[in-house]
Amino acid sequence: MATVIDGKAVAQTIRSEIADEVRQLSQKYGKVPGLAVVIVGNRKDSQSYVGMKRKACAELGIKSFDVDLPEQVSQAELIKQVHQLNANPDVHGILVQLPLPKHINEEEVLTEISLEKDVDGFHPLNIGKLAMKGRDPLFLPCTPKACIELLQRSGVSIKGKKAVVVGRSNIVGLPASLLLLKADATVTIIHSHTSQPESIIREADIVIAAAGQPMMIKGSWIKPGAAVIDVGTNAVDDPTKKSGYRLVGDVDFGEASKVAGWITPVPGGVGPMTVTMLLKNTLDGAKRYIE
Ligand code: GUN
Repeated sequence: MATVIDGKAVAQTIRSEIADEVRQLSQKYGKVPGLAVVIVGNRKDSQSYVGMKRKACAELGIKSFDVDLPEQVSQAELIKQVHQLNANPDVHGILVQLPLPKHINEEEVLTEISLEKDVDGFHPLNIGKLAMKGRDPLFLPCTPKACIELLQRSGVSIKGKKAVVVGRSNIVGLPASLLLLKADATVTIIHSHTSQPESIIREADIVIAAAGQPMMIKGSWIKPGAAVIDVGTNAVDDPTKKSGYRLVGDVDFGEASKVAGWITPVPGGVGPMTVTMLLKNTLDGAKRYIE
């Protein structure tokens, strides 16, 4: 049976380390880290993610700056808000929640975020540096960083290993594959046009699943002893639950946990770590600015 990686416990440990550092900054310099969380419109999932991020800031003593804009806001107005946050010395991190409404060009907005405040790591220059050998971005994207942190803290070595990333989104799959490459893994990316993904996954020592397909990866696809990090957070109908649904990953946990060496559960694996990495990035940005 696999070792189940307890993301919630690891996240708690890191959060208390961050809270200590926030207190020290405050005592030494009279300043606390500040994170601006910008949301456009009323998408339920985005509202819920943003709520978690703001609540986590409050718990750790990080000041959160809330910018809530209506669905119809113009791109020019959104960019004006970003420029104001760039100029605000109390704001050390800026996050624009994605996806944005269709009339707004995501890339044009993300490019306006100051590189020093790009705590999501989505600025094209930060992603570009992530992709290049010998260059280091100022910030790493939070979910991929969470995946690597969970592997490292579980004692899984990455160097020289065969790693497979399932999914190539800008937010998770692509940057996760670049991070694994930086850590000297041999990386294969599986996407919707890949034929016979199972035969590729079966070779992998490390699997990062970020396809958004409930329980797509079966136990028989996993190499015995592999480390499996499941980023999927899929709601599936479950009449036995009061809410009417339950969350499942991209991996069939019941089957895969019998074969893998390590595996993250859903919920309680990558999820709690993602917000923690955002807080860590904000602290790091603040330290660079204040110290
Ligand atoms: N939407 C889904 N995940 C993320 C994330 O990590 N950052 C932002 N800004 N938007 C998201």
